[in-house]
Amino acid sequence: MTIFVTGGAGFIGSEFIRQMAGSARIINFDKLTYAGNLDNLTEAAKDPGYSLVKGDVCDAGAVMAAMPEDCDAVVHFAAESHVDRSIVGAEEFVLTNVLGTQIMLEVSRQRRVKRFLHISTDEVGGDMPPDGWFKEDDPLQASSPYAASKASAELFVRAAARTHGMNTLITRTSNNYGPYQFPEKLLPLAISNVLEDRPIPVYGDGMQVRDWVHVTDNCRALRAVLERGRVGETYHIGGGNPLPNIEVLRTLLKTLGKPESLMTRVTDRPGHDRRYAVDFTKTTQELGWKPEISFADGLAQTIRWYQDNPEWVRRCRSGEYRKYYEQMYGAREAGASVL
Ligand code: NAD
Ligand code: DAU
Repeated sequence: MTIFVTGGAGFIGSEFIRQMAGSARIINFDKLTYAGNLDNLTEAAKDPGYSLVKGDVCDAGAVMAAMPEDCDAVVHFAAESHVDRSIVGAEEFVLTNVLGTQIMLEVSRQRRVKRFLHISTDEVGGDMPPDGWFKEDDPLQASSPYAASKASAELFVRAAARTHGMNTLITRTSNNYGPYQFPEKLLPLAISNVLEDRPIPVYGDGMQVRDWVHVTDNCRALRAVLERGRVGETYHIGGGNPLPNIEVLRTLLKTLGKPESLMTRVTDRPGHDRRYAVDFTKTTQELGWKPEISFADGLAQTIRWYQDNPEWVRRCRSGEYRKYYEQMYGAREAGASVL
């Protein structure tokens, strides 16, 4: 099986490649933005079935050139993924997440790709009421420019299925956590800060609720959807763990034996959704998938990973991981500090 993965050097895409290495031919098509880190793929890249193409999903010619004629599946992770960055500047999100998705669909159609799996997010459902659970057929109600771009992308995927009869699937996942997550998202930022006795910025009152799913469980679900999902369907993936941020951070601080005073309240994120909670009953019933890693175990394992890999964090924070690209590709922006 030949799988064309976009954004495979990022957090979730690299876990997907690590899981698939050895059982499929993988072409990782990645622009290697600040979020693309080849350090995430050191072991998987040794697999003879793996190859990397540095390219932009907005560049139809580059995608066409990289995608083999006998491509069985596209798994489309590539995106600008950080909500705060979308608030500062939304253009890149529209380009990569919307235009890039349409270009991936069009090239895949021309290449007669058998299956197109689009990776979306629970954020497209918007703010859930305290007892609400986001279901697959609920309306799209994005709050942030990031969520708006992901909701728009979903509509292009649906349109490609309906208009061109493409074999598409959409997954909507809740907040992923685990090893190799770039230290701009809440958990890796908090863990790496606390390990250095630096404060954790808590947005607003910290009572926003997120549903945490371990990245390993998520990628197991993505594989099940790719293998057995019904054509044209959307599948939700969650951890069944909706928790207020402050509670997550308290557990983290307790595990590391650090004082709660490290939590520092800062100005809230504009338009901040109070609660996400995905209902993934359909995925469990149809595909037999359910999360296997409890949040307590997953958090402890994730903390250990960051404790054991200070060099990975240091290279992220210094921007050194990008120098790798400079040697390989002579990228102009390589080596830039990103935090
Ligand atoms: P990430 O930011 O860690 O990685 C994104 C990857 O895409 C990077 O390797 C980057 O270099 C690449 N990329 C960015 N722009 C590109 C372009 N124009 N062309 C080619 N490659 C490009 O993201 P992630 O957290 O791994 O998320 C992966 C996908 O899952 C995204 O579509 C995101 O919206 C979705 N998602 C993420 C989460 C989460 O909690 N992280 C939850 C639900 C859905
Ligand atoms: O729900 C799925 C989404 O989860 C994905 O689609 C996104 O790609 C991913 O970035 C994530 O979005 P969030 O905005 O939920 O994740 P983030 O880690 O940025 O923030 C998690 C919560 O923590 C959110 O309520 C904001 C808060 N937060 C975040 C940061 C970075 C803080 O309180 N302090 C912080 O420093």
